[in-house]
Amino acid sequence: MTRKPLIAGNWKMYLTRAEAVELASAVAASSKGLTDREVMIAPAFTSLAAVQEAVGGADAPIRVAAQNVAWEKQGAFTGEISAPMLQDVGVDMVILGHSERRHVFGEDNAMVNRRLVGALEFGLTPILCVGETLEEREQGNTFKTVEEQLSQGLKNVQADQMEQVVVAYEPVWAIGTGKTASKEQAQEVHAFIRSTLVALYKKTLADSVRILYGGSVKPENIDSLMAQPDVDGALVGGAALDAESFARIINFT
Ligand code: 13P
Repeated sequence: MTRKPLIAGNWKMYLTRAEAVELASAVAASSKGLTDREVMIAPAFTSLAAVQEAVGGADAPIRVAAQNVAWEKQGAFTGEISAPMLQDVGVDMVILGHSERRHVFGEDNAMVNRRLVGALEFGLTPILCVGETLEEREQGNTFKTVEEQLSQGLKNVQADQMEQVVVAYEPVWAIGTGKTASKEQAQEVHAFIRSTLVALYKKTLADSVRILYGGSVKPENIDSLMAQPDVDGALVGGAALDAESFARIINFT
């Protein structure tokens, strides 16, 4: 079983097109020649084409992802972007169910599942984000929340499709707060996620799924997080907007 580490930058609603191309070029430069890990960046929709053009292509050192996708090919869905539209600009990965989509924009597990099933049908690689709020953690409901997000988010996802899926554990209380989960807290939930995947699928498949940690990942904590047996990468917000910090995170040891 080998799980190639994935270091992913979620740029959220930041950067103009020119700024995005500049940062993407810097990330591509720091990722050149790395073969034992994958690097991904997720710019805003408006920058995807320009970023893909600047750093994309079959032998590109980094992958470019979108931050959400609709489930239909086209139609009356104001404000949405479809998978074929993303593929048209060379994008083949997408972040789904991010905590900000869930908690600011009200996306529930059913909607996240619909997006995920659609993304897989169109051939996009989804990163399914899960994670508990502080209240859920304090009430002892971390595992319950994460289990529901996984089982409902992955409803109707077949085993062969699951091979494409990446999971990201992002405790809501750690996102943008500077409060990282300790390496023990991260490992505990990552192991729980893997055991849930064993129950939903089977062990060999669960062992091959990459589980990323997200929430205040920084140059100072990446090495100890990556040393955990079930942490297979990181989904980085704030620190991914700084070329130097992200380069250090990419080059975790
Ligand atoms: P921060 O790294 O800024 O906490 O954001 C994490 C995140 O939401 C990545 O998707």
